[in-house]
Amino acid sequence: MGNQLKAKMTLEKNNKIGKVDERIYGSFIEHLGRAVYGGIYDPQHPLADEQGFREDVIDLVKELQVPIVRYPGGNMVSAYNWEDGVGPKEDRPKRLELAWRTIETNEIGTNEFADWAKKVNADVMMAVNLGTRGIDAARNLLEYTNHSGGTYYSDLRKSHGYEQPHNIKTWCLGNEMDGPWQVGHKTAYEYGRIAKETAKAMKLVDPTIELVACGSSSSSMATFPEYDATVLDIAYDEADYISLHQYFGNKEDDPANFLAKNMEMDHFIKSVKATCDYIKAKHRSKKTMMLSFDEWNVWYHSHESDKEIEAWTVAPPQLEDVYNFEDALLVGSMLITLLNHADRVKMACLAQLVNVIAPIMTENNGRSWKQTIFYPYMHASVFGRGVAIKPIVSSPKYDSREYTDVPFVDSAAVYNEETEEVTIFMVNKNLDEDIFLHADVRSFEGYQIVEHIVLQNEDLKATNTAKKQKVAPHSKGESKLQDGVLEATLKTKSWNVIRLKKI
Ligand code: AHR
Repeated sequence: MGNQLKAKMTLEKNNKIGKVDERIYGSFIEHLGRAVYGGIYDPQHPLADEQGFREDVIDLVKELQVPIVRYPGGNMVSAYNWEDGVGPKEDRPKRLELAWRTIETNEIGTNEFADWAKKVNADVMMAVNLGTRGIDAARNLLEYTNHSGGTYYSDLRKSHGYEQPHNIKTWCLGNEMDGPWQVGHKTAYEYGRIAKETAKAMKLVDPTIELVACGSSSSSMATFPEYDATVLDIAYDEADYISLHQYFGNKEDDPANFLAKNMEMDHFIKSVKATCDYIKAKHRSKKTMMLSFDEWNVWYHSHESDKEIEAWTVAPPQLEDVYNFEDALLVGSMLITLLNHADRVKMACLAQLVNVIAPIMTENNGRSWKQTIFYPYMHASVFGRGVAIKPIVSSPKYDSREYTDVPFVDSAAVYNEETEEVTIFMVNKNLDEDIFLHADVRSFEGYQIVEHIVLQNEDLKATNTAKKQKVAPHSKGESKLQDGVLEATLKTKSWNVIRLKKI
């Protein structure tokens, strides 16, 4: 006990960061690989419902309590004609899908996806094509989805069997327009102009919508943060959010360095906030720009195997990362980072949701299962609703190849005033040792421990399969709370969720 590593925390209920917008637990379904076809939709499957959607997958998504799902891309949206995906299925064209070089059958489109989203109790975050198309296609799609009737596109929707509008509230103005890989890639000025004018037209069609302008597709882009600043300078009044995307890899197989990568996410968020606030000051604006971290995850396992996939096939197994335990730890730390920015990050999408760099996997016409990253994502989404409280933590630190002063303990806390519950999320990144936590929680008088959930595995490379959940949580964490002092053992390499409730 004498030499045991120790961390100290003070949790004070008035030390509020901000209300957690539940949409930070969003996710993403792109027409890519087997996300749609073979993932959420598989009409031949014994568990398919009357529309061909897999009920086992619906149940898994419901377990995650995903509040919003981005659709239909991603890179795919930048050459997508939304009109191909509506109307009688037999009339829908098959197209070359340019982003991922596959064949898109268009069996699923806007209306079916809106139906699916309802089934999983999620809202849709719809992206418009600002790559090959522009203002006209965007305003027509919005008229189709949100206008009540009596006009060409709203009546077209009715003729397709959808009497009521879908009322989609959140829209992305294109996708990763800073990326040279994007079909219709644009300079910051070109994109800023089209984003502003598209936003103007869309808000004339439906002033109740909210719009996300594209920022940088990662903090390592050479054009970051100038791209973001230019776009905001042009479209500050029309946009409601600026997007951030970030994926982390671990090719070097350096776990200590890999687990520190959420520090880069933290730095990215701080830099985008500063960029937004600079433009706010420059414009003498009263509006504070909010952030939409609408793609984030670990992504690297499938990079090599994807090179072998034959072009121009339907729904090939692209981006099928098999996540291991260390990926789940980093995903947990990334969720902690998002929570600690709850005042400015109002939406975030774990990219993606099914089969494609996803927490849920399926076999075509077969089983479905939970990947390792399913668990931290589910815990945060289910228990992380309320107000984010900033834990004051003193944790031992380490240096890794790319990062210095990395705290071994990452933490975030969410206080739900209504249910009188507090949940503390923690990761112990120490690869060899447990850490003893001493937390002052006197501010939560009368609270007791409900549960201490732990996700832990001795093998950082352990994965889950359809047959076996090697990486799964248990509720046997070691912790006690007495006289306002919470003491817990944070096991080496572990994700911890300590739930307190007023008894
Ligand atoms: O999520 C996979 C891809 O990553 C998306 O299509 C794109 O936006 C990003 O580069």
